[in-house]
Amino acid sequence: MNTRTWLVTGGAGFIGSNFILSQFNPQAAMINVDKLTYAGNPHNLNSLTNEPNYILVQSDIGNEPVIEALLHKYQPEAVINFAAETHVDRSIYNPQAFIQTNIVGAFHLLQTVRNYWRALKSPARESFRFLHVSTDEVYGSLEPDAPPFTETSPCAPNSPYSASKAGGDHLVRSYHRTYGLPAIITRSSNNYGPRQFPEKLIPLVILNSLQGKALPIYGDGNHLRDWLYVEDHCEAMRLVLEAGRIGETYNIGSGGEQTNLEVVRTICALLDELCPQSPQSPQSPHASLITFVKDRPGHDRRYALDCTKIARELGWKPKESLSSGLIKTIRWYLDHQDWVSSIQTGAYREWVRQHYGEI
Ligand code: NAD
Ligand code: DAU
Repeated sequence: MNTRTWLVTGGAGFIGSNFILSQFNPQAAMINVDKLTYAGNPHNLNSLTNEPNYILVQSDIGNEPVIEALLHKYQPEAVINFAAETHVDRSIYNPQAFIQTNIVGAFHLLQTVRNYWRALKSPARESFRFLHVSTDEVYGSLEPDAPPFTETSPCAPNSPYSASKAGGDHLVRSYHRTYGLPAIITRSSNNYGPRQFPEKLIPLVILNSLQGKALPIYGDGNHLRDWLYVEDHCEAMRLVLEAGRIGETYNIGSGGEQTNLEVVRTICALLDELCPQSPQSPQSPHASLITFVKDRPGHDRRYALDCTKIARELGWKPKESLSSGLIKTIRWYLDHQDWVSSIQTGAYREWVRQHYGEI
């Protein structure tokens, strides 16, 4: 169990909240710095509200005085940076917010953390870590027969989102190489699981299915993704913090590849079984809601990650298969209808209307 003080950024979002919930130990302080954008939901961490060692601070990662004060007050042994604008479709409408947080915000955070780290005394200075959470999207799109991306594959991002993440990664790398900051980068594939905001494919499909709404598939639906259950990702990050090598990058993926259509059909089949009371089933299976819509501009055709390095060095491999992870995820959404209604607000409905129109 973790006994160190950690400062997590973006911990009210999907992966950050799952990370905090899986790693929190009442004996060690966990500071969560989150701007609480539309994607940040403090209720994700309701179960920690009465824990004196869980501290939520609403702030932008780019606010140097706030971050500096927190670092000096709590003296964390690691900073884990999840904070980002994360939705590719939103980055196409409004790239500026992505550049601001994922590049400029990352820069300010690095500056503040570097100043804190270089003033630390031994042995705290040697054991400190900055973990930057990144994505397979920085590598761009793979050709159909190409081998999966390794950590040495060049960055070739295709969306404003992935370009901004690549920019942040390059800054992190430079702060290690130039200033010696003990940083590590992780690049994970598509995550899914509890608490994911339903602008992303899997929760969107689960909730639309349950509400009898169209399931929008971009283009021909044959785009390939490697889906990773979020708790497997959290465990990989814990191992990287514990024993990852400074200055290195680690790919984290499930090793499987599925087309979007396959994933959506699997969810529909599971819902037919798990929710026979639903109006869509059994007379009219959930898959009958599948609707092909206009493709995403610059849509990456295929992502796949070679995860040999993390398996060999840290002994990590995912525990969940896609179907076991999807069953857990569907059950979570079924059991958390209050969470669902609290995030399907006017702003969410406006996003759906703006992006999908009348489908
Ligand atoms: P998310 O959108 O669910 O959450 C992002 C969180 O960051 C939110 O709580 C938001 O309020 C916060 N935030 C945004 N801008 C901020 C700022 N300027 N200052 C402080 N907080 C800010 O994202 P997620 O899916 O949990 O992703 C977390 C990280 O993992 C991101 O860096 C993302 O690029 C990376 N990642 C995500 C996936 C995935 O499939 N979701 C896969 C690989 C990597
Ligand atoms: O690969 C890691 C990345 O995964 C993360 O870095 C991003 O933060 C995260 O958002 C995710 O990006 P994607 O664009 O792959 O995820 P999304 O859930 O938006 O889409 C998954 C696939 O499904 C993609 O090929 C687009 C397609 N799609 C998505 C939506 C929302 C549809 O066909 N219809 C949809 O309505």
